[in-house]
Amino acid sequence: MPRMVGGLHDEDFVFLTIVAIGVSLALQWIEPAAIGATLLLVWRLFFKPPFDTKQYRLPPKAPFGLIETIQNITTKQIITFFLRVHQKVNCNVALLNFPVPKCNYTVLVVDADLTRDILNDKSTTKAEGIVKTFERVTDGESQFFSNNGPRFYHARKAIAPAFSNSQINRMNGVTREKTEEWIQLRLEPMASNGEPIDIIHEMVELTLTIIMDAAFEYTLTKEERENLLTSLDITLREFIFSNPIKTTFGFLFPSVLRARRKAKELMALANNIIRAYRKNPNPTPGTVIDTIVRNPNYRNDNERAADIIVLIIGGHETSAASLAFFLRELAKNPSEQYILQKQLREMNEEERKDSELLRMYIRESTRLWPLSLPGPFRQVGRDFVVKSNDPSERDIMIPKGSAVFMPIICLFQNEAIFEDHERFVPSRWECPTEDMKKAWMPFGLGNRNCIGQSLATCELQSILSRLCANYNFEVVEEGSEDFSLILHPVGIRLKATKI
Ligand code: HEM
Repeated sequence: MPRMVGGLHDEDFVFLTIVAIGVSLALQWIEPAAIGATLLLVWRLFFKPPFDTKQYRLPPKAPFGLIETIQNITTKQIITFFLRVHQKVNCNVALLNFPVPKCNYTVLVVDADLTRDILNDKSTTKAEGIVKTFERVTDGESQFFSNNGPRFYHARKAIAPAFSNSQINRMNGVTREKTEEWIQLRLEPMASNGEPIDIIHEMVELTLTIIMDAAFEYTLTKEERENLLTSLDITLREFIFSNPIKTTFGFLFPSVLRARRKAKELMALANNIIRAYRKNPNPTPGTVIDTIVRNPNYRNDNERAADIIVLIIGGHETSAASLAFFLRELAKNPSEQYILQKQLREMNEEERKDSELLRMYIRESTRLWPLSLPGPFRQVGRDFVVKSNDPSERDIMIPKGSAVFMPIICLFQNEAIFEDHERFVPSRWECPTEDMKKAWMPFGLGNRNCIGQSLATCELQSILSRLCANYNFEVVEEGSEDFSLILHPVGIRLKATKI
């Protein structure tokens, strides 16, 4: 079978060997000929062929050079970069000029079926070449998020029951209580004064209070809360998808040194949370902190602390960004707002959070603003083949070991799947097409999907049903979007009026 070695076909190999020997002989340089032939032989022996190039080809190359790709992927340009690549290559897979450690190729995938296959594939893992950089946020300590194998498995297995139905009922109680407090203390005064609300700031405060209580039974002091939010902002901005030069020569950059100090502070806070739990005479069984502290498979408390930081990050920023994007979308679309309000107000208060219409609105806002913008990403554990549409063309191969970006934004904003994709049209979810259903995976899939999905869904439904049934929202400032770990809004100001 014809094979390819280090980019050369068998015939190229034979040809080059003959040329090397021939040229050297012609020049009567026997030694160089021997060296040339030996080098080619070594190449042939040690570089395993990635795939049969007669039958398969690599994905088409994205027309962006190394520097341009790094600049786009490591800054907020990433928001539109993958969409641009997809448009330019006119194919559902593309080779990216973005080297990922320990991965032979980096591939962009924009295909719902293939994304599902990859995410559900048992041999496929998190791309450690990418996610290991996240450990800098926890001062170099390993996290279940950034690992495959036993470090991931024992932690995830122990924590997962903390998001089961019975725990979610308890967390829903916490969500309701904290939302009422926030409404009385913050929203009501701003609404009655007609004061614009910095909605992302308010939602971060609310969701942070909820996760700290519901998952960690811990109340942050004002100072701890401010430090936590500042430290997260600084470390995530500095370390996530960071520029490779800064990653390697971090000690030369004052901003990196500052972020390293903040990472230590984050770990100190997480260790305080562990100590507070151990001192608690009556801890609630089955909470996230309970499952972490009781899990004997951690090497030490620092590993526990790292997982706590991961869950604090996952547990508040994501929900806060979703809530803020939703309320902005509603405020921008008064007729849609009216329809939702009317329906919610016709229901009794207990039923409101389970409103089907509200679920459709949440879906539509999540579709327009998918938080997990560049991902999911993985390292494929086997070859994946993409059938070519053109029978005269070879099929495309994503070789085992490649890093794969599967940005769901490219599916959610694909005109072929979602007609009028730029518009907020909740009614499109009344009768979703098969393609829409296949593309729908805002929490990822497979064994590395979102561990907090049930809590996030419960929070969104509970908070939004309470707000939308009782307040009307108008845009004062639309703000914009930014990206650090997730896509999140900045500078949105809304005016709330009690109905
Ligand atoms: C609307 C809110 C949320 C969205 C849209 C969201 C979305 C996601 C997505 C897309 C992933 C990656 C899945 C993958 O790589 O296949 C993920 C992972 C994760 N999420 Fe969420 N999430 C949300 C809320 C939460 C909450 C509330 C928590 C925690 C309480 C959380 C904790 C995590 C963690 C720890 C992971 C990593 C799981 C692992 O590595 O095994 N998320 N989330």
